Amino acid sequence: MTKNILIVDDNQDNLMVIQLLLESFPGTYAVAMADSGQKALSMIKNNPPDAMLLDIRMPDMDGFEVCRRIRRQQQIPYIPVIFLTAQALNAEDRIEGFNSGCDDYITKPVDRNELASRLNSVLRIKALTDALQDERNLLENKVIERTIKLQEEIEQRRKAEKLLEQSLKEKIVLLQEIHHRVKNNLNVISSILELQSMEITDTTSITALANCRDRVFSMASIHELLYETHNFAEVNFSTYTHNLMNQLSTAYKIDDSIKLEQDIAPDMQINLNQAIPLGLILNELISNALKYAFPNKQTKATGVISVQLQEEDTHNILCVKDNGIGLPGKVKPEQTTSLGLNLVNILTKQLNGSITFFNSKNSNENGMQTVIRFPKTLEEVNPV
Ligand SMILES: Nc1ncnc2c1ncn2[C@@H]1O[C@H](COP(=O)(O)OP(=O)(O)OP(=O)(O)O)[C@@H](O)[C@H]1O
Ligand SMILES: [Mg+2]
Repeated sequence: MTKNILIVDDNQDNLMVIQLLLESFPGTYAVAMADSGQKALSMIKNNPPDAMLLDIRMPDMDGFEVCRRIRRQQQIPYIPVIFLTAQALNAEDRIEGFNSGCDDYITKPVDRNELASRLNSVLRIKALTDALQDERNLLENKVIERTIKLQEEIEQRRKAEKLLEQSLKEKIVLLQEIHHRVKNNLNVISSILELQSMEITDTTSITALANCRDRVFSMASIHELLYETHNFAEVNFSTYTHNLMNQLSTAYKIDDSIKLEQDIAPDMQINLNQAIPLGLILNELISNALKYAFPNKQTKATGVISVQLQEEDTHNILCVKDNGIGLPGKVKPEQTTSLGLNLVNILTKQLNGSITFFNSKNSNENGMQTVIRFPKTLEEVNPV
């Protein structure tokens, strides 16, 4: 491929000679000429050559300065520069030449073959430099393209995140509303049961309805906590137990004579699917203790009902105990047909747990103790 060579020399004869020499290689070089540094610089701006042959000694601007200006202009692609010198240069000039950015020297009168070989040598470097530059441009373009795409992706993601945030907010409001309504509906059921019991005179039925009201409350209270804490997956079991104890104390008109204690870590969280059965179990066991453990005044004075929930590796252990009179001998809690303990047994199975009833009636320590061991996580719990 023909290479464009710019010759710069203030001497017309020199220009002609070098032009002739280059044109003696047919089809190899296309020659352009400038008789001053200024002219050369403006020619380069419009049409940068593949290489330059540049005279050093010129009146208005010498070759060193021309070379320096070319190298300073970032937008001009790399142009190899060969200095033309009248005679062998001293070391100082050679150094200044290279410092100004030249690639080679050639001495006048110029030898035809030497000129061609020096030009070819710098043109090879030029080709490699251009190839490198092309690669670099390509890479830079790719980086720019990718950056634009990434920015678009980020923008899209940001929009998607906003939508998600919005829909999450809506879902939270919805869930809150659901738990609020469930709680309200359960309270309505509770009120209906109360109204119903006012119509009844039979004490057994009244008691049964009151027990049912407690059970409904134990569930409503879970939904109330979920609604209040905005955590729809877990219930703080310490708070829950506290609320349930208060409610049952009021329902059974317990004064300070019986102490209700709990030993549950304040940050103990229980999954929603475990909280409902666990809440019902707790309701049965605490209400039983309140109803049966302390039948007379003496025992009431020192009565303590305690609830403990502790973690153990993969399991939680719930322990409900009292220091009352203990189970009557005839009651077999594992096989009972009475609703309360039967419910406790069924709900323990739903928790995939195991239950042990300790009746300390005949030992030194009086009272009844129920221990339920259940896995911390439960995939699915069948509805009650
Ligand atoms: N903590 C306790 N101390 C002494 N006796 C108890 C205790 N818990 C239960 N019992 C006895 O076990 C019996 C069975 O209890 P269970 O809860 O199954 O039925 P209930 O309380 O009588 O009726 P409900 O079906 O309304 O619960 C009770 O009637 C009571 O005699
Ligand atoms: Mg009971």
